[in-house]
Amino acid sequence: MDRELSRRDLLGGLAAVAPGPPRGTITPIAPRGPHAPPAARPAAPPAGGPHSLPPLPYDYAALEPHIDTLTMQIHHDRHHQTYVTNLNTALQEFPNLQSLSPEDLIRKENLEQVPEAQRAAIRNNGGGHYNHTMFWEIMKPGGGGEPTGALAEAAVAGFGGFPAMREVVNSAGLSRFGSGWTWLVLTPDGQLAVLSTQNQDNPLMDGSGFPVLGIDVWEHAYYLKYQNKRGDYLNAWWNTVNWDAVGQRYERARGGQ
Ligand SMILES: [Fe+2]
Repeated sequence: MDRELSRRDLLGGLAAVAPGPPRGTITPIAPRGPHAPPAARPAAPPAGGPHSLPPLPYDYAALEPHIDTLTMQIHHDRHHQTYVTNLNTALQEFPNLQSLSPEDLIRKENLEQVPEAQRAAIRNNGGGHYNHTMFWEIMKPGGGGEPTGALAEAAVAGFGGFPAMREVVNSAGLSRFGSGWTWLVLTPDGQLAVLSTQNQDNPLMDGSGFPVLGIDVWEHAYYLKYQNKRGDYLNAWWNTVNWDAVGQRYERARGGQ
């Protein structure tokens, strides 16, 4: 039963804590080497499952100076890996969803099959896996410049041109409170539009559009280099964009996939 902690409880609790060594005491360090007792067992390997972390398509340092090496390493190897691991764990209870691609898994009609109590785990981690896989693919070393072909024409039709479209994408990312993504999507009625989502949500989750391009605005994507200056990160990010990959996503979206 919950009850409010009294001052007596707190003092009693403090008194029960074993005193540490007096100041100035040197605590012996456990021996190391072949005869040392085994350290704590490492954590059990993550449960297997249908999803795995895709390798980064370039070196961790390849997007310097726009995105720093350590950020790429932590972002890919730890953050993305965690989404994959947790997604596999969450899917253990749902064999009927295990064969779906990440893109199909997070579509509205499939997420709705999951009971509400477990839906958040699949939504967050499935979104995290899909979003980051896309993110690595739409960047490249020596990227940047402007879109070409049909996407360039659509940018003119929808926004007046690429520079204006970029500003709208950046603005949506800048105004996203907390963690999330800013997106360029193709809407079901065939228009380019910009929107932002919270957490690891994705426009596929509510059917608002197909993500042509998305920029991660979680602090883990930029904080080591840019600290609180999310706007500087967003401006720099466009120097990494892989327009060939983005253009292919746009063509897929137009094909209704
Ligand atoms: Fe991220």
